[in-house]
Amino acid sequence: IDEVSLRPKKLDEYIGQSKVKSNLNVFIEAAKRRNEALDHVLLYGPPGLGKTTLASIISSEMGVNLRITSGPAIEKAGDLAAILTNLSTHDVLFIDEIHRLNRSVEEILYPAMEDYALDIIIGKGPSARSIRIDLPKFTLIGATTRAGLLTAPLRDRFGVINKLEMYTADELKHIVKRSAGILNIELDEDGAYEIARRSRGTPRIANRLLKRVRDFAQVIGKGIIDLKVAKHALDALEVDEIGLDGVDRNMLLSIITKFSGGPVGLDTLAASIGEDPGTIEDVYEPFLIQLGYINKTPRGRMATRHAYEHFGLPFGEE
Ligand code: ADE
Repeated sequence: IDEVSLRPKKLDEYIGQSKVKSNLNVFIEAAKRRNEALDHVLLYGPPGLGKTTLASIISSEMGVNLRITSGPAIEKAGDLAAILTNLSTHDVLFIDEIHRLNRSVEEILYPAMEDYALDIIIGKGPSARSIRIDLPKFTLIGATTRAGLLTAPLRDRFGVINKLEMYTADELKHIVKRSAGILNIELDEDGAYEIARRSRGTPRIANRLLKRVRDFAQVIGKGIIDLKVAKHALDALEVDEIGLDGVDRNMLLSIITKFSGGPVGLDTLAASIGEDPGTIEDVYEPFLIQLGYINKTPRGRMATRHAYEHFGLPFGEE
C-alpha cells in the first residue's frame, strides 16, 4: 500500500524513460480520439524500473479499469478465460512475468489478442467441438525481464514494444525527492543525490533505500537526510560507493578469485555463490553489465578491468 502511494498516477508525473513516455502519450491520445482500445503493449527490462507503474498509468490515462495478474498465477486455460470474459470494454489486463505462462494458457491468448475472441472446446471425443465467444476489446500489457524469453508468436502479437532503461542518477534524484515529499521525509540535495547514485539505476531500490536511510536519520541524526547521514546509513546497509550490494560483490569476487576472471558459465557461477541463475541473469547482471564490470561472452561471464579496479585488485597478471 505504501509503495502504491509512491507510484505516479499520470504520465507527466512519471520521471525518466522519456522516449517510452512520449511515444506512449501519442498512442494513448490516438486510441482515445478513435475511441478504440489501446493496442497491446509489451514492456521489458530489469525488475524495479516501473513496468507495473506504467501499466497503471496507461489504464488511468485511458480512463479504464486495470486488472493485474501474472504468468505463474494463471495455471489453467480456464483461469485466463474467466479473467478475459470479466473485462469491460477497453480495459487493461496487466500480466506480469508473461514469459512464465504455460503453453495451453498462452494459446488462449492468441485469438484473444488478435480477434478479441475465445476459442473453447466443449465435450470430449467424437462429440467435442469448438465454440467461439466474443470478448470485449481490451488492451493486454505484458511485462517481462527479457523480451527474448517470450515465444515468437506471443511477441508478434504486441503492437507496442517498449524497453525500459536503467535510470540516471539525476532521474533517480528526482524520484527520491518526489517520494520524500509524499512520505514527509526531510532531505537535502546532497542527501538525495547520494541515495540516487547508489540505487543501481532502479527506482524501486531508491525508494527502499530512502526509507531505510530515513530510519537512520531519525535514530542517529536529527531526522533530516543530508550527505553525512546518507553516507553513514548506506555504509551500514552495506551498499557500497557505486551501489553494489553483498550479492554483486560476491559475484564479482567469485569470478575474479575462483575462476581467474572468467569466462565462467552462468550455472557454475550461480552455484559458486549459492544464488539462483535466473535471479543473477535478471536482477544482478544487468547493472554489472551496464557498469562495464562484466562481459557476457559465448563461453560465459568475464570480469573486466573495471571490476578488478573496483576492488583494488591487479588486472591481467598471472
Ligand atoms: N516511482 C517509481 N518509479 C517512478 C518513476 N519512474 N517516476 C516517478 N516516480 C516513480
